[in-house]
Amino acid sequence: MRVASIVLPLAGLASAAASYSKPVSSGCNALKGPVGNSLFFIDSLVYQYETNNFWSNTELMSPGCVFRPQSSSQLAEGMTALVDAEAKFAVRGGGHMGIRGSNNIDNGVLVVMSNLTTLELNEDKSVLSLGPAYRWGEVYEYLAAYDLSVPGGRLGPVGVPGLLLAGGVNFYGNQVGFACNSVINYEVVLANGTVVHASKTSNPDLFWALKGGSSNFGIVTRFDIETIKSPMVWAGAHTVEAQYVDQFLAAIAQYASNISDPKSHIVPALVPGVSTLASAILFYDSDTVSYPDILKPFTDIPSVSSTVGFKTVAEFAAELGAMVVSDINDVFVAGTVKGTTYEELHQGISIINTTFFNELPKLYNQIPSANISTIQLDWQPIGAEWIQASNARGGNALGLDSTKVYLCYAEVVEWIGSAYDDVVAKWVEDTTYAINNATQKAGLYDAFNYMGDAAGFQSIFPGYGATNQQRLIKIAEKYDPERVFQTLMPGGFKVY
Ligand SMILES: Cc1cc2nc3c(=O)[nH]c(=O)nc-3n(C[C@H](O)[C@H](O)[C@H](O)COP(=O)(O)OP(=O)(O)OC[C@H]3O[C@@H](n4cnc5c(N)ncnc54)[C@H](O)[C@@H]3O)c2cc1C
Ligand SMILES: *[C@@H]1O[C@H](CO)[C@@H](O)[C@H](O)[C@H]1NC(C)=O
Ligand SMILES: *[C@@H]1O[C@H](CO)[C@@H](O)[C@H](O)[C@H]1NC(C)=O
Ligand SMILES: *[C@@H]1O[C@H](CO)[C@@H](O)[C@H](O)[C@H]1NC(C)=O
Ligand SMILES: *[C@@H]1O[C@H](CO)[C@@H](O)[C@H](O)[C@H]1NC(C)=O
Ligand SMILES: *[C@@H]1O[C@H](CO)[C@@H](O)[C@H](O)[C@H]1NC(C)=O
Ligand SMILES: *[C@@H]1O[C@H](CO)[C@@H](O)[C@H](O)[C@H]1NC(C)=O
Repeated sequence: MRVASIVLPLAGLASAAASYSKPVSSGCNALKGPVGNSLFFIDSLVYQYETNNFWSNTELMSPGCVFRPQSSSQLAEGMTALVDAEAKFAVRGGGHMGIRGSNNIDNGVLVVMSNLTTLELNEDKSVLSLGPAYRWGEVYEYLAAYDLSVPGGRLGPVGVPGLLLAGGVNFYGNQVGFACNSVINYEVVLANGTVVHASKTSNPDLFWALKGGSSNFGIVTRFDIETIKSPMVWAGAHTVEAQYVDQFLAAIAQYASNISDPKSHIVPALVPGVSTLASAILFYDSDTVSYPDILKPFTDIPSVSSTVGFKTVAEFAAELGAMVVSDINDVFVAGTVKGTTYEELHQGISIINTTFFNELPKLYNQIPSANISTIQLDWQPIGAEWIQASNARGGNALGLDSTKVYLCYAEVVEWIGSAYDDVVAKWVEDTTYAINNATQKAGLYDAFNYMGDAAGFQSIFPGYGATNQQRLIKIAEKYDPERVFQTLMPGGFKVY
């Protein structure tokens, strides 16, 4: 997470008025009248803070101004003005989609969610009303006081809105499905400046589309999400040495082919380096059971370091979040193999592993090791329990089949120096195609790319299946007939 590191030598906060003499985009001019008190220009501290408030340096751009709405109604007024002026804008929540231009813009208006800060439990504490300003760590801390949690990001700094709109891979997935499936109501600002609710009973088509359809329909200003009783969990990172990599990969296949205990969750990763490490985030939703049987394939491997123990989800998300290095350049890439048996899943894992390691020397040949912060390859098993739990809550747009097990892999490269941006971009693209061609040849490839982990060169909606993509397009046409979210907002994954 970036924090403001550049502060202009100004005496106090500059107001929008101070920059009337500067050239600004049409959108910034159009917003001055209707929402001028929430508009910030380059000479203000708010502009400096918000334009630096992104996960990866590759996301940093130069918007003409920052619009930081104080309420959904003010955002709606701003939307109307932007659409009337046919002005380009970007929307940023937690800023963790590491794709340049997905959540930021040069010259146009950067709309930030920072002041939409609803955070409130209902009377029986079964539902949390949650504004898009938050990072998951803040949400878990608030809920810890009530022995509650919600399905959300596993690393504290990750933003709420982008994750819930992508689906939401979470610790409780085998119990409640994707995080988006625990959202029972959305408050949304539509392109025509109306504020609507989407739930099972109100705009149910929009309700479904927001579960995986991202920013194609409106701007979400509040999520009402069901809470989970979860006072303490048993969790940690269990790290083993290179000699155990094959045993570790076998443990992933064993777990994925038989997710018999839905309280469990894993994020297994390989971390290449001078010597490869294998590390699994292990999670078990219990305040009494340690070392559960289902995680034994991992915990039976001798560790070089392990942080497993009882803790709150707030503590665990903070522990994992501490691994995020600020102010560097990062990319994620997504891909998927699917199967049903141990043998198929193990073969898929092995192909991904082997292809990835075969490609690595090409990266090392072009970037000095001092400029590589981390490289990782991880796997996310999504099986029957997870998909059925999502379906039981009304389903989502992702189109996963509950008779299959999906192993979504993610490649992560983090580096120092924008001089290497193009090298990394080319390498991850080549490597991903090499992996996917190899898994396709083995009959294990699936076109699903999890949006949260996807790179800019990848497509998302074809992987949801033609039926779901068509359904999403119809819903976008209904709620945004002028295609504002496809044309005036260039960033993000477009359904059409
Ligand atoms: C270190 C790290 C850890 C992660 N861990 C997880 C994890 O555990 N589980 C998981 O599922 N994913 C994870 N992700 C992926 C994560 O879900 C995405 O990066 C997601 O986009 C983050 O949300 P955000 O609000 O920070 O994103 P942003 O970059 O702010 O937004 C993402 C997209 O959504 C749009 N958007 C933002 N707010 C709104 C809104 N209110 N209404 C409409 N559109 C909006 C933006 O325009 C942009 O296109 C992780 C990512 C990182 C970098
Ligand atoms: C708006 O958000 C910023 C950044 O989080 C915060 O510093 C500021 O106090 C907020 N302002 C209001 C009025 O909520
Ligand atoms: C799945 O796991 C359960 C519990 O650990 C075990 O009883 C069962 O035999 C396993 N099934 C298969 C097919 O491995
Ligand atoms: C994974 O890749 C490493 C490095 O190439 C190799 O040593 C190992 O045997 C591979 N394991 C499997 C199961 O593919
Ligand atoms: C490589 O990283 C070092 C810090 O480790 C940094 O000072 C240097 O500028 C980087 N190189 C390039 C070409 O950006
Ligand atoms: C296979 O590789 C080619 C490029 O070499 C790429 O265009 C294609 O999309 C790849 N196939 C898959 C399934 O990714
Ligand atoms: C705004 O758009 C919605 C969805 O298309 C529509 O139902 C509503 O009538 C529109 N409102 C106005 C004021 O045009």
